[in-house]
Amino acid sequence: MSSSFNVAAIIGSVRRGSYTRRLVHALERLAPPSMRIGIVEIGGLQIYSEDLDRVPPMEWTAFRERIGRADAVLFATPEYNRSVPGVLKNAIDVGSRPYGQSVWAGKPAAVISVSQGTVGGFGANHHLRQSLVFLDMPTLRQPEAYIGGVSTLVDDRGHIADETRRRFLSDFLTAFESMIRAR
Ligand code: FNR
Repeated sequence: MSSSFNVAAIIGSVRRGSYTRRLVHALERLAPPSMRIGIVEIGGLQIYSEDLDRVPPMEWTAFRERIGRADAVLFATPEYNRSVPGVLKNAIDVGSRPYGQSVWAGKPAAVISVSQGTVGGFGANHHLRQSLVFLDMPTLRQPEAYIGGVSTLVDDRGHIADETRRRFLSDFLTAFESMIRAR
């Protein structure tokens, strides 16, 4: 692996004006110099069905190839009903098949969950981690990132508004970079 890391960011919201997407854009700027974060879109992926996988849609093939090229994966997601949004679960399912050809296996991962309230998407974060264990993705354990108050997290210039939270997220990315480097 080179000394520069290509991190695929997957965002669990396809909403226009998504706070999670704003956060990921801020993280692109905050990342250590050796880490390039690039968003991989999931909103156009057809709902997974093994029937469709007999002749996989080109969107699935492109997605699988894109994740396959990544050195690591950053999942940033809001919480829907104490779990991950369906669009994110679908992307995970698409990448996990055909059986035995999962693009996730062995890829280092990190999870950031967000909410507008104070809980910070804890339920989504841990439901996602359950899938990542099964998918054999070594996942950053500490620091854990449950980000509450996401609607005011990023300022008009696209930066993390609050210094304490900026430092926390910077430390989070540095820890992720160290974990990727150690593999
Ligand atoms: C939510 N939201 C939400 N928030 C939360 O903290 N816990 C939850 O279980 C849920 N459940 C939930 C279900 C559905 C269907 C929607 C649409 C929303 C609120 C949600 O996390 C919040 O609107 C985030 O800001 C959405 O993220 P984006 O789209 O701004 O990135």
